[in-house]
Amino acid sequence: MMMQEVEMEMFNGLVRVFLRMMYEKNRLLYLHSVKTARIADIISRGMNLDGRMRWMVVTSAKLHDVGKLMVPDDLLMKKGRYKPREMTAMMVHPVCGAEIVSQYFNGNISLEAGEVIFAIRHHHERFDGSGYPSGLVGDNNSIVSQIVGLADFWAALTERRPYRTPCSHDLARRTIEENRNLFHPGIVKTLLMNLDALSMIQYDSD
Ligand SMILES: [Fe+2]
Repeated sequence: MMMQEVEMEMFNGLVRVFLRMMYEKNRLLYLHSVKTARIADIISRGMNLDGRMRWMVVTSAKLHDVGKLMVPDDLLMKKGRYKPREMTAMMVHPVCGAEIVSQYFNGNISLEAGEVIFAIRHHHERFDGSGYPSGLVGDNNSIVSQIVGLADFWAALTERRPYRTPCSHDLARRTIEENRNLFHPGIVKTLLMNLDALSMIQYDSD
């Protein structure tokens, strides 16, 4: 079943509610979500995706870390290394986020909403199968999810984190190039071709 316009508008409303909750909980979580969505949109345009695909990519990017609403702030903002127990608590956020969003649909899930929920669940998978939660290899992960995964990675590199300052764009580019086996080759290529547009994204973490 394809999503009707009215459903899409209602889902957009839900996205705004979740973004507001992230804003109130943790400003960096909110800013990261918005920034990831901008990066994902630039990649989508670069890949010439149609409007429906772009909506799925951008919506998934805004919501990819919604499961972190359930993670305590002291853990989100921790400066040192995570203990194994803390690591486990952090690593459930994709599954947790997918569960939260699927609750809204009460089993009546359109193709588009299903894509978004899948991408939330699988945005930490890696092309070589080294990611989580399922260890999906290559295109066993969806294209939407793979775009969000790379956008998230680029956003994280170029943002200030509690334990480090942001990487320069040059260092971020080199890091992506060194780790390109972790991502879909076509998506990496599109990102690298759009570095000028990416460098225009403002990130205000103050
Ligand atoms: Fe995440």
